Amino acid sequence: MYARITGVGSFLPGQPVSNNDLIQRGVDTNDEWVVSRTGIKARHLADPGCTSSDLAFEASRRALAAAAIDAGEIDLIIVATSTPDFIFPSTACLLQSKLGNQGAMAFDVQAVCSGFVYALTIAEKFIRSGSHKKALVIGAEVFSRILDWEDRATCVLFGDGAGAVVLEASDKPGILASAAHADGSYNGILSVPGNICNGKVTGDPFLRMDGQSVFKFAVRVLSEIANECCAVAGVASSEVDWLVPHQANIRIIESTGKKLGLGMDKIIVTVDIHGNTSAASIPLALDVAVRDGRIQRGQKVLLEGVGGGFTWGAVLLEF
Ligand code: UT7
Repeated sequence: MYARITGVGSFLPGQPVSNNDLIQRGVDTNDEWVVSRTGIKARHLADPGCTSSDLAFEASRRALAAAAIDAGEIDLIIVATSTPDFIFPSTACLLQSKLGNQGAMAFDVQAVCSGFVYALTIAEKFIRSGSHKKALVIGAEVFSRILDWEDRATCVLFGDGAGAVVLEASDKPGILASAAHADGSYNGILSVPGNICNGKVTGDPFLRMDGQSVFKFAVRVLSEIANECCAVAGVASSEVDWLVPHQANIRIIESTGKKLGLGMDKIIVTVDIHGNTSAASIPLALDVAVRDGRIQRGQKVLLEGVGGGFTWGAVLLEF
């Protein structure tokens, strides 16, 4: 038995916000710097009051419609997010309530930008074990809430959004292999090192990053994990039809493609229009490429992410 993606959906809040729009809003940057260093031209930013579960709800509705199933049939909901609505209950439980689902197991996964790959890996294990039949796996983020808009080295990089897939038990091939790792000793190079204690923020509530260390780490592990995952499936990386990488920086994506021997014509890129949406970036990019017809049924698709923790992982599937 396989776990197979039967529907994909995504949602972006509001209108695109360009680099020049950020300058209008007071960020000390310029379009040339952001585009040349990152490839980012625009991102979407949620209005105040719009939460990760709101974005997850819209993405889920689209994925459920694509799979032609009702929310009530879902028996497992996993939301990958680092920007949950509340400390608790989980964003997955809030989403379940918005969807009108009753009885599904629902929980969040916190693996930052690798969150969707982690969540999909977990859901696949539940389905293959036979305990669950129809899962909704979502990456949803409002990263704009944890950005220090005075820190131009980070605030220009991120955006808000959500992507979702329906994963169902099937005798047709679906997920072929997965691999994931973490190394907590790198916790300091990308973090939001704050907490709430006795009604006050303790520490720092904003995203802090050592950009160059993150860059080097990401380039190293993304090619390693892709090769590891392909080896588990017995598939050569040259046989992969589409790479859907985490969308953080076009230079990281290009360098990973080069190391894997995959041309840019085989790599889905949305970082230019979405920015880095953390756990949402991979399902958002997947949805764009499924809806525009590039990713077709039967093709081999490799998803891979890296993020704070540090965490990294990949999933190889036959779509
Ligand atoms: O999901 C993982 C998330 N993180 C990432 O993927 C980030 C990985 N890292 C990167 O993409 C790059 O390290 C950055 C794009 C973040 C930064 O590029 P960099 O080449 O490492 O730049 P830098 O931090 O070394 O800064 C170079 C210069 C500095 O000016 P001086 O000191 O050389 O005069 C910065 O002040 O660029 C300046 N700078 C900016 N200038 C205009 C930094 N941010 C900006 C900005 N606009 N937004």
